Amino acid sequence: MTSQSFFWDRIANHYASQPIGDEASYQKKLDRTQEYLTSESRVLEFGCGTGSTAIYHSPKVGRILATDISDQMLNIARGKAKEAALNNIDFEQSSLLTIDSPNESWDVVLGMSILHLLSDKDAHIRKAYELLKPGGVFVSSTACIGDMGSWFKFVAPVFKWTPFLPSVQVFGVESLKQSFTQAGFAIEYEWQPEPNSAVLLIARKPNG
Ligand SMILES: C[S@@+](CC[C@H](N)C(=O)[O-])C[C@H]1O[C@@H](n2cnc3c(N)ncnc32)[C@H](O)[C@@H]1O
Repeated sequence: MTSQSFFWDRIANHYASQPIGDEASYQKKLDRTQEYLTSESRVLEFGCGTGSTAIYHSPKVGRILATDISDQMLNIARGKAKEAALNNIDFEQSSLLTIDSPNESWDVVLGMSILHLLSDKDAHIRKAYELLKPGGVFVSSTACIGDMGSWFKFVAPVFKWTPFLPSVQVFGVESLKQSFTQAGFAIEYEWQPEPNSAVLLIARKPNG
């Protein structure tokens, strides 16, 4: 168990009990994502948490593999999917970087509220690119703390030294977009509900 999975395991029940901060924006992000989904889609989500996003999209797609490093988050997600009688979602404990999946085998990769929590977001973006089929899309929602005017961006970098806080990376929207384009993606859609809120980016891997 890493210090990060320790942190997320410890807060899983609390996380599951919290209402969504900005319900309207979350719903708009779900709706926008669904414009990219079909009944044939093979969807890979990483950092799926308690599974809410995967469960919401499940009736619209062929198959979803929802992954997370936290066993406790996944236990809650599995319980929710079972209760909803969904049979096209598999939950798996893994990191995107070590996932056992052939390249170019997914139509959509989802990474919601996760890229700012990774010490190596660029490696994750490159891996998503490899895993996507040509023409596939990577849908992400990311807190860009570097653009925030608050004191938080100065304090956040020290979080990684303690297992009692999440590791948080500080970067802005422009730098995030650059990471996508450097990996080969073309950014197709960008939406930030408020100046300091998480940005939705939909990035496409070019065809051929
Ligand atoms: C802020 S929560 C977001 C959960 C979910 N995507 C959502 O939008 O509600 C972050 C999730 O990422 C997971 N996580 C943290 N580091 C990870 C990593 N390196 N690889 C995969 N998942 C990770 C945590 O366990 C947690 O479930």
